[in-house]
Amino acid sequence: MSEAFVTVENLHKSFNDHKAVNGVTFSIYKGEIFGLLGPNGAGKTTTIRILSTILDPDRGDVSVGGHSIRHEDDAIRSLIGVCPQELALYPDLSAMDNLLFFGRMVGLNGREARSQAVANLEAMGLMDRAKGKVDKFSGGMKRRINLAIALMGHPELLFLDEPTVGIDPQSRNMIYETIDGLRDGGMTILYTTHYMEEADRLCDRVAIMDGGRIVALDTPHELKSRIGSPEQVTLEDVFLKLTGRGLRD
Ligand SMILES: Nc1ncnc2c1ncn2[C@@H]1O[C@H](COP(=O)(O)OP(=O)(O)OP(=O)(O)O)[C@@H](O)[C@H]1O
Ligand SMILES: [Mg+2]
Repeated sequence: MSEAFVTVENLHKSFNDHKAVNGVTFSIYKGEIFGLLGPNGAGKTTTIRILSTILDPDRGDVSVGGHSIRHEDDAIRSLIGVCPQELALYPDLSAMDNLLFFGRMVGLNGREARSQAVANLEAMGLMDRAKGKVDKFSGGMKRRINLAIALMGHPELLFLDEPTVGIDPQSRNMIYETIDGLRDGGMTILYTTHYMEEADRLCDRVAIMDGGRIVALDTPHELKSRIGSPEQVTLEDVFLKLTGRGLRD
């Protein structure tokens, strides 16, 4: 795991006078689960939106699979899947039709789209609800569909922006199991969360963001070792130590 698949160099993005992302630099290795952690407003989603070519940076560069976001965003789009913080699905369509639609959007033929849709619905425990309209689903089921959509087309790099926020333990566990399976399959994942225990469990390395900057970046074990015995301290303690305040609002 030594080859950088994503490199982010000195990224800046302001909204009006507010620096949402203020000089962010990091790399993500191929096959790694990289966590971007931080409180509300830290700049996590803005960073993901730049990396996934939705938003242009003011300054800095990003390369994904050797392609620059500056002039090769089409090539990048063909490598990535995005599971956005705000659910992106069609509430009036069935679960199956949502997956088929997004499958066709990423260029799958009808047959391949159907086979991937079935596999993803099964992985999310939703095959028996395939024909149900998504707007009737619970919050946790919608989150699972959001992830199933992001997986259509087997992206090499997956962006998961708070995929487990506000959901029941059953849905959360299904998402964890899915991520473990994706890791075993070699997918590279950028994962954002407020939940430190989650990052500790899932991520190979984490960057802790605050106020648009990365304040620490290392393996969860190393970060915890910096302030004490890794068995006894938490990533939340690390954040508290680094910034003088708690991570959650
Ligand atoms: N389109 C926008 N227009 C104006 N301000 C924005 C916009 N997008 C983000 N911001 C601001 O930039 C800052 C960073 O926002 P961002 O959504 O990246 O944070 P975040 O770390 O994802 O937070 P959260 O944990 O709440 O999702 C915030 O202060 C936010 O209000
Ligand atoms: Mg966000």
